[in-house]
Amino acid sequence: MRSYSLIAPAKINLYLEIIGDRPDGYHELSMILQSIGLADQIDVHSISTDSIRVRCNHPQVPTDKSNLAYRAAELMAMQFPQAFAQYGGVEISINKQIPVAAGLAGGSTNAAAVLVGIDLLWKLGLTQSELEELGGTLGSDVPFCVAGGTAIATGRGDQLSPLPSLDNIYIVLGKYRSLEVSTPWAYKTYREQFGDSYIRDSDNLAARANAVHSGAIVKAVVDKNPGEIAQKLHNDLERVVLPVYPQVLELREVFANQEGVLGTMMSGSGPTVFALFESQQEAEQVKLQVKEAIIDEDLELFVTRTITHGIKVVSSV
Ligand code: C5P
Repeated sequence: MRSYSLIAPAKINLYLEIIGDRPDGYHELSMILQSIGLADQIDVHSISTDSIRVRCNHPQVPTDKSNLAYRAAELMAMQFPQAFAQYGGVEISINKQIPVAAGLAGGSTNAAAVLVGIDLLWKLGLTQSELEELGGTLGSDVPFCVAGGTAIATGRGDQLSPLPSLDNIYIVLGKYRSLEVSTPWAYKTYREQFGDSYIRDSDNLAARANAVHSGAIVKAVVDKNPGEIAQKLHNDLERVVLPVYPQVLELREVFANQEGVLGTMMSGSGPTVFALFESQQEAEQVKLQVKEAIIDEDLELFVTRTITHGIKVVSSV
């Protein structure tokens, strides 16, 4: 095969707790990550030159080395020089549907798709954990994006424990097109404001990270209970992002006041806000109501749902 098309789903954070900092400058996290139906399509195909090329339909997405998908291909070429020499370069086409810089792991899921696509193109036969390990060197969310579904993520966000998949929750996402929140800024500001409460002792850190396994939200996920999950949503980064971005706070409040909304929260470092629903009909209805409540062309709203997979091959030629 010379070409693969892959679906690269976005994620939301059902839970994000910052429990400490790390010697590498990152944070120790305790999260629950969930794949959603909103997805990009990534086409990878072999080209005869020994170069890496990225194309994207979205003007805001860079096509040079600053794109994580480019760096994923470069990593594969470095790790597997013989295969790179044998099969030649790669062209990566990104059909972008996931909002950019949104807290939805759009860049990370594209990188995960490139790892999976090149593994197939070059017939490397890598295992899921080998792909996740490579992904971890590119970014904290990349390992989760490989297999997706529902998972607990600890450490930097790269230590994964799968949970039973949730396929029964509908979601409305709201994102202001022109609004971006820098993830490094959000974590740095959190450290400045709340670093005093970080756990510094390694035994206590491990115990706190493990506590999520027996926590109420994991029980709600295992019970596949959307109402309970929605009651237990949590994101520490809201404490620094909402005061600085009043639009995000307002959007969250508008969601919270609509009938049928089980719960609402910002995803990752934002600025996307999501709301959870029992049915697609309620989700569609609330999307319309939010559109009427906030009259702003800049606000994009999407109806989607929880899904049970990460990167998926849809065709090969
Ligand atoms: O790993 P990734 O490149 O996605 O992380 C983006 C930024 O988010 C990092 O540069 C860091 O500032 C912050 N971060 C963190 N702790 C984590 C994950 C991310 O401080 N566990």
